[in-house]
Amino acid sequence: MRSLDEAINAGQSGADGGRWVIRGGRLLSADAEPVVVDLVIDGERVAAVEPAGTADAGPVFDAAGLDIAPGAIDLHVHLRDPGQTHKETVETGTAAAAAGGTTLVCDMPSTQPQVTTVDRYVAKRDAWTGRAAVDYALWAGGTDPDQLRGMAAAGAVGVKIYMATSPGFDQLYSPDDTAVRRVLRVSAELGWAVSVHAGDQAASDAHRAELIRAGRRTPADVLAVTRGPGNLAGLRSVLTAATDLRQPVHLAHLSAYGTAALDEFVRARAEFPRLTAESCFPALSEEEDLPRLGVYALPTVFSAAARDRFVDAIADGTIDAIATDHAPHTRDEKDPGRHDAWAAPPGYPALETSLPLAYDALLAGRLDPRRFVDALAGAPARILGLARKGRIAPGCDADLVLLDPAGSWRVDESTMHSLVGWSPLHGRELRGRLVATYLRGRSIARGGDIMYPGGGQFVRRSTGRAVAAGGPGSTEKVPGAAERRSS
Ligand code: NCD
Ligand code: ZN
Repeated sequence: MRSLDEAINAGQSGADGGRWVIRGGRLLSADAEPVVVDLVIDGERVAAVEPAGTADAGPVFDAAGLDIAPGAIDLHVHLRDPGQTHKETVETGTAAAAAGGTTLVCDMPSTQPQVTTVDRYVAKRDAWTGRAAVDYALWAGGTDPDQLRGMAAAGAVGVKIYMATSPGFDQLYSPDDTAVRRVLRVSAELGWAVSVHAGDQAASDAHRAELIRAGRRTPADVLAVTRGPGNLAGLRSVLTAATDLRQPVHLAHLSAYGTAALDEFVRARAEFPRLTAESCFPALSEEEDLPRLGVYALPTVFSAAARDRFVDAIADGTIDAIATDHAPHTRDEKDPGRHDAWAAPPGYPALETSLPLAYDALLAGRLDPRRFVDALAGAPARILGLARKGRIAPGCDADLVLLDPAGSWRVDESTMHSLVGWSPLHGRELRGRLVATYLRGRSIARGGDIMYPGGGQFVRRSTGRAVAAGGPGSTEKVPGAAERRSS
């Protein structure tokens, strides 16, 4: 039996792209207790899960003592490419993903130009080709039904609705209930995902103006607006619209709006169970981190009580998915916020620490292994309609992570991959250590080092009515020529 190091150093699927075995690792899954198994990989796919010590198809690598889990799927990232590549690029953002155990990212349409038309969607999709270290899906944006239909045909997994606006989002904006409902109706026809940035622009603007008039400009004042009555009213109205139209919606960054938003969501879901929500894994505290980090901790930072509620909600499945809202800004952009918090854009890099934070919670007994897997991978795959992603089972893509429960590490922003070069978690000690990340059978990262950049592929829905090519069961890339034809 060969050491796992040999498999990882080979840079790819153990041997030569054929069959190989990861022996004796503890498989974490969403629907069963952890169990020590042999995992048989064949090329890009999982071929079989067999009793430990029994599989011998091809080279065998020793994973004794390690946990095996599906790679994370992040429903909500801003990789800034094209348009703001001084903050992040496809290469740097997906390297951060790979190094952190995320094997699929779903990028928001707030890149520049904003992704509101088929032409822009196709241009962005094609511009990413051959550059990503992990697989990727792309959200569509805007409100024009014809463009939305065209973007679905070009491979969009869903649409992001913005009920708030600011310079980078102005064309993505759904300004009122009529616009929101129009997108929901088109979405019912397309069968794709709908992610909503909830808000009420006029109410939030008025709240902000009132605070500024009163001379208020601390990070806590910014948080008061983020968690304020405007965003809660927006949240209520989209939950009502979704329930009226029986069209599932997924709430983006519920954690940013605080515990009142969680209460609203729980109420609405009791009436319409197909609503879903995401949260980052709670990491930053108002008591300790906010005073030290200031605007670098915005937008999502938790009081001790809120942190407990959100961790509980992730742990009991109230919140379906862990998603980062990875939103890098440079220090130069953040720094003006030291004196006037309104002057800094909200957002921080989070991709490289997302799965590691959840694994730390698992090892601390705060997160059950089943929920760890479902929140990071299973639920996002279901929401995006990706049949071969998000779980380790025969026929699925071999996207997985190997984790050492006995290890530990300290977050160090100087060695991380996001282009902005800082992390709000710098210095944090975390239990567990990510040993390796595999994408479709190939080792793409070992610890913090990227082994194989550029192998990530565009992924489209394999379920729902929005499948334009490939058919049910396929989450494969579709070659550029075919995609251009479909748009
Ligand atoms: C995001 C950004 O910077 O793009 N900011 C943030 O606060 N996370 C935008 C967003 O999702 O609101
Ligand atoms: Zn976002």
